[in-house]
Amino acid sequence: MNSLPLKHLAIIMDGNGRWAKERGLKRVKGHEKGAEMIRGITTYCATHETIETVTFYAFSTENWKRPKMEVEFLMKLLDRYLQNELDTYQEHGVRFQAIGNLSQFSTALQKRIKKTEELTRNNTKLTQVLALNYGGRAEITDTVNRLIKEGKTEITEEDISSHLQTPYSDIDFLIRTSGEERISNFLLWQISYAEFYFTPTLWPDFTPDELDTILTDYKQRARRFGGV
Ligand code: FPP
Repeated sequence: MNSLPLKHLAIIMDGNGRWAKERGLKRVKGHEKGAEMIRGITTYCATHETIETVTFYAFSTENWKRPKMEVEFLMKLLDRYLQNELDTYQEHGVRFQAIGNLSQFSTALQKRIKKTEELTRNNTKLTQVLALNYGGRAEITDTVNRLIKEGKTEITEEDISSHLQTPYSDIDFLIRTSGEERISNFLLWQISYAEFYFTPTLWPDFTPDELDTILTDYKQRARRFGGV
């Protein structure tokens, strides 16, 4: 049995709306609280012995279908989040990177994203990736099209892996909050050999302590990558 690697953790943050509803609040209040919770989880990962990258699903290509006011709120929240988090990134050695089709965001938001990436590029404790307007199928399709444009006529798995927008290691462990047991088009290529964990906890209630408990469970699993 192989001991389990844990370099790349991925998290589907779900349940903000239900968290707000349970408290008689507007959905956006759940997003606000949800955005705040990312910090504690990120700093936990930055001090973890083996985690090098944590990727959060912050906005999917399907999220544009939400009411206009909610989408606008999420955009503003993201801008505010990046502005507020800069100190945390620098203090904890966190490099920030975004994946997804950013061209649909406002110019100001795209600038904020690029600026945050540049300002944190030399941080080495952890890479925090935010998936923004991200879809796994779109990522794979874009990659294949790029390879064709480069003149490739036969495409290998290695070609795709090394040309994805996320040239990070494969996902070792994927956690989804709120009790939903779906992948929702997240990192489809990279989760091929990932372990999954579904917790009923709603994202705004998800703490570093719960993550720590879940990682203890993960360490007890054995992964064979198709071998015996
Ligand atoms: C799903 O909750 C959550 C999302 C839309 C993605 C995660 C977003 C955040 C944590 C807040 C914004 C993030 C940043 C980085 C500023 P939901 O609305 O689907 O919850 P529900 O299923 O209970 O309705």
